Amino acid sequence: MKKIKAAVLGCTGMVGQQFIRLLDDHPYFELSCLTASPHSRGKRCGETTANGDQPALGEKTASLVIRETTAAAVIQSGARVVFSALPASISGELEMELRKNGLFIFSNASSHRMDALVPLLIPEVNSAHLELAWAQLREFSGLIITNSNCSVAGLALALKPLTAFAVQALTVTTFQAVSGAGQRGVAAWDIMGNVIPHIANEEEKIASETKKILGTLAGKQIRDHGLEIYPSCSRVPVKEGHLQSVSVEFAAPVSASEIATALSGFSAEPQQMALPTAPRRPIIVLDAPDRPQPALDAWAGEPTRARGMAVTLGRLRCRGKRCSFFLLVHNTVRGAAGGCVLNAELALKKRMLGGN
Ligand SMILES: NC(=O)c1ccc[n+]([C@@H]2O[C@H](COP(=O)([O-])OP(=O)(O)OC[C@H]3O[C@@H](n4cnc5c(N)ncnc54)[C@H](OP(=O)(O)O)[C@@H]3O)[C@@H](O)[C@H]2O)c1
Repeated sequence: MKKIKAAVLGCTGMVGQQFIRLLDDHPYFELSCLTASPHSRGKRCGETTANGDQPALGEKTASLVIRETTAAAVIQSGARVVFSALPASISGELEMELRKNGLFIFSNASSHRMDALVPLLIPEVNSAHLELAWAQLREFSGLIITNSNCSVAGLALALKPLTAFAVQALTVTTFQAVSGAGQRGVAAWDIMGNVIPHIANEEEKIASETKKILGTLAGKQIRDHGLEIYPSCSRVPVKEGHLQSVSVEFAAPVSASEIATALSGFSAEPQQMALPTAPRRPIIVLDAPDRPQPALDAWAGEPTRARGMAVTLGRLRCRGKRCSFFLLVHNTVRGAAGGCVLNAELALKKRMLGGN
């Protein structure tokens, strides 16, 4: 198969760096354009990569020169697929302009997540919502597909197999890593030895995005899932991996063994299609009483390309109609760049990205 040329916008950030790692030597996509702020323009990719504990980049990727972030620069590069890791403050207009020019945008930014025709996609959960992207293709010739907020990416994935048990409500408390706030997000002095019990707009995003993702497609609209969600979010001094304490209420009593079986046996289209970035087991249930832990489990997932794409879950306890557990999601991989690349792999296999 001929590879499709791809761009990464915001390539020097926490998410951008993961994109570069995942797209270096990707079987479907070939990196041809990297952009960032004027501060990084003209540098070679190899000079800016801060992924010390990751394998070295290929020579071709390392030598790519970072361009300015404009629609013209991306279009001129010949890229057809665009992975966006820009701050929401600048991604909105630019992504729409690129779509108008027939490009296929896969975005981490929140700007278009709640747009009526934009799928908020987790391939294992709501691939049926891709129908909306076909409507965009008819209208604009390009498309925008977004992935969710990083906490939601793990939460909605774990909830999907539980919807068969009629989920009524959930309470979730998050312990979110500092990488979730971006490279310059939280001052070291504020977070060292501390917990900050507030992340701007995060609780609202968890409620609205989870309901959209678990919602049902009705014509050209998503009907939100009716479950009630009570989120509380905090920032903790952890490098990567968002831990969440979740308590789910069902319509009828359930047992821990049936819930554990539903979670660990879950797989969906990406696994059946063997997409390159799909983890063989999207949800891994751990038995040890002190897991999951960000330091030990954030990079769960096989094969190697899917490291960080599996959600780990443990401490499952059920009583009557209520089950509680901890879950862990790698925020910049499954919750950002990895989720986005998986979205693009699925769209390509569904023949939404032009002739391939
Ligand atoms: N971090 C996460 O876990 C996570 C998870 C899900 C979604 N997201 C979303 O993904 C996006 C990127 O997040 P991040 O954590 O990677 O942020 P980040 O570390 O702050 O990186 C931001 C990137 O955007 C570039 N940039 C900033 N201002 C710019 C401008 N005015 N013009 C052009 N480029 C500009 C930066 O370039 P320079 O280095 O040159 O300044 C950098 O490459 C955000 O929308 C965020 O909400 C993040």
